Amino acid sequence: MRVVHSPLELQRLLKEEPKSVGFVPTMGALHLGHRTLIEAAKKANDIVVVSIFVNPTQFLEGEDLDAYPRKEEADKKVCELSGVDYLFYPTVESMYGTDEVSLNAPNIRGYIMEGTSRPGHFSGVLTVVNKLLNIVSPTRAYFGKKDAQQLMLIETMAANLFMDVEIVPMDTVREKDGLAMSSRNAYLNTQERVEALNIIKSLRVATQMVMRQECSVDEIREKMLEILVPLEVEYVTIVNRAFEPIEKIEIGNTIILVEAISGSTRLLDNIWI
Ligand code: PAJ
Repeated sequence: MRVVHSPLELQRLLKEEPKSVGFVPTMGALHLGHRTLIEAAKKANDIVVVSIFVNPTQFLEGEDLDAYPRKEEADKKVCELSGVDYLFYPTVESMYGTDEVSLNAPNIRGYIMEGTSRPGHFSGVLTVVNKLLNIVSPTRAYFGKKDAQQLMLIETMAANLFMDVEIVPMDTVREKDGLAMSSRNAYLNTQERVEALNIIKSLRVATQMVMRQECSVDEIREKMLEILVPLEVEYVTIVNRAFEPIEKIEIGNTIILVEAISGSTRLLDNIWI
């Protein structure tokens, strides 16, 4: 595995690789969720590139940019053992200049749900993902459905900017008890972690209600909010795959999303129905 810090050097090295490239962008503190994306990239491509970059532009003032877990050595091992070919580890200075061009998330879909609680967050995500995709020029890039709104906005960006890349969505990997894996789970103390399980519980109850086919969207939301009481709920939203609010659940075209805070940790989860 080759560790590369310079964006231009990586771009040059990858130009010499006449093969299909699978790319997994991350912010590090790698867990099984990330590893599943890497494995999928490995299976479908000749070469795998992973980036680890805690991107400052997607953190708002007062958020956990400084506290975000950084595990350089452990992450390098994970990548090496997973058969990664290039690990891209850029510095902030090499990725950003002053007074530069950046992307704005779409006015509506970038500013609902997580975009309401974190205005501007998705502009930072799209800006960095755009930069990373330009550096790596992958054949396929892998993103988790756990961050469903992020995935949708990246798919939208790739389509709107006519990017020559296949965006591959990947299912959410969970702990045994159902908690969606996340680098931020490390912030949870024992009690907060137990309370966080109400998120998956609410999504499972919602799925059962959908399967019974006798509940309205409002009834499902109300039931979920009851289950989520121990947490500070940012939103419970039921949308179609285009992220438009829906009145009636259509199997195969629905996502139920939750964002809730346990202690001071923001947790996202969702279920695709
Ligand atoms: P990060 O949170 O490190 O996640 C990197 C990728 O792993 C994302 O596509 C995310 O959806 C996926 N992922 C995280 N947890 C997962 C899980 N439990 N199961 C499956 N996939 C999971 O998301 C980001 O970084 C950043 O915003 C980034 C896209 C790298 C831009 O900075």
